[in-house]
Amino acid sequence: MDPHRSSISCHSHQSSYKRQRDDSGRSPRENKHFRTNTQHQYRSESALGQNPLSCRTLSTRRELYERDFPVYKQPVEVGCFSLDSERRFFNDSRQMRYYVEPDRNPNFNLRDGYRDRFIKRDDSVKERLDHILRWIVANKSKINPTGAAASPRALDVDFVTWRGHLTKLLTTPYETREGWLLAVTRFRGTFYISEVETEAARRERENRTERHEEMMYWGYKFEQYTCADNTHSLPDPGGVVNTNEAFCTVVQTRLADHRLLFSGEVDCRDKDPKAPAAPACYVELKTSAEICTPKQRSNFHRFKLLKWWAQSFLPGVPRVVAGFRDQEGVVVSVETFHISKISHLIKNEYNCWKPTVCMNFCCDFLSFVKRVVTEDSPRVVYLFSWDPYKDVTYSAHRDSQYCFLPHWYVEEMTRSEDSQYEPKA
Ligand code: A3P
Ligand code: MG
Repeated sequence: MDPHRSSISCHSHQSSYKRQRDDSGRSPRENKHFRTNTQHQYRSESALGQNPLSCRTLSTRRELYERDFPVYKQPVEVGCFSLDSERRFFNDSRQMRYYVEPDRNPNFNLRDGYRDRFIKRDDSVKERLDHILRWIVANKSKINPTGAAASPRALDVDFVTWRGHLTKLLTTPYETREGWLLAVTRFRGTFYISEVETEAARRERENRTERHEEMMYWGYKFEQYTCADNTHSLPDPGGVVNTNEAFCTVVQTRLADHRLLFSGEVDCRDKDPKAPAAPACYVELKTSAEICTPKQRSNFHRFKLLKWWAQSFLPGVPRVVAGFRDQEGVVVSVETFHISKISHLIKNEYNCWKPTVCMNFCCDFLSFVKRVVTEDSPRVVYLFSWDPYKDVTYSAHRDSQYCFLPHWYVEEMTRSEDSQYEPKA
């Protein structure tokens, strides 16, 4: 059996379960593609047939994705942007920070400043793709060097999204705890993918314990201990940690036949001016509990390194600097992990995650999206939904709460494309 073809399933246990549930009491008319202004999840299941192109679900079973590693072109940085202490967008690198290598055993106290020198970003505010869209509007010529007239698309890419959304896709075949919802809109030939918070994630966010809230600060505090504002200065652990601030890279690459444009936050860069060009000079910073037992090492390999690898491999960030902390939030050791060596590190782990499964699943999901998302309109959102141990399903919504392309973006992209055909004065 060709595993590639069988990942899109019409006959899974999952889809028949959904069929039973959704068919109850709904008229065939309601079961057509769209539901307008709906608050409810709705899955169109009416046309489950034998033709693979009409299939409604995508399997996430690991064994279906164990084939050759797909083509993944070296990501190229096409730009960057910054978000300041009030989360305002700037089309430049003003928030770039520079890595200052710490001692191997630095004893950084990550709890310092949590009460009195911490400004936390309001994570109930959903920014969706807005910052990336702002960057696109400001840099259209960089993405379409030959101009939109050369292409039927407004943008010469297939997908626009955040790196974090792609990271979730890469790790899906191994995820056992958290599902996801991804909204997709096709606009002028490009597929925009934006996350929607699940009910479970919202509940978790609103009910975090004080300990959890504090531990979320620790990662940012580690960044403050290891980053300087410019090439000549040193880190300032006495300053304020403000999680509104961000420096984001924008990269272009290709996964098989999917041309991707995505952005991701970058913690810092090598301060040596002779360091290779971005993204190769970037450094990802992480914290993790110190490893004291073989079981802890195995869990670190199985779970942490998967997330770290996926996040940095996507934009081509070559290394992760990890601060290992004790129970009290003190960094007791620091270690560098090279992304290209992580797959060797996990080789001895029984039944461990595989990079090829991650990339092939992501690739097949993007193909699935291209097949499903047929209507090209900023007013239409296809909502892809996944829960652990289940298949990916979708529903379609017109003029709904899920719409996420802002008017200013739609107008700008429509205007600029039309203007290509206007006679020059
Ligand atoms: P750690 O990664 O050291 O835990 P990132 O590493 O992606 O640059 O994120 C920086 C920090 O933001 C994290 O540091 C962590 O403190 C916090 N953070 C990011 N995503 C989080 C999440 N899903 N849950 C909790 N904390 C998160
Ligand atoms: Mg980090």
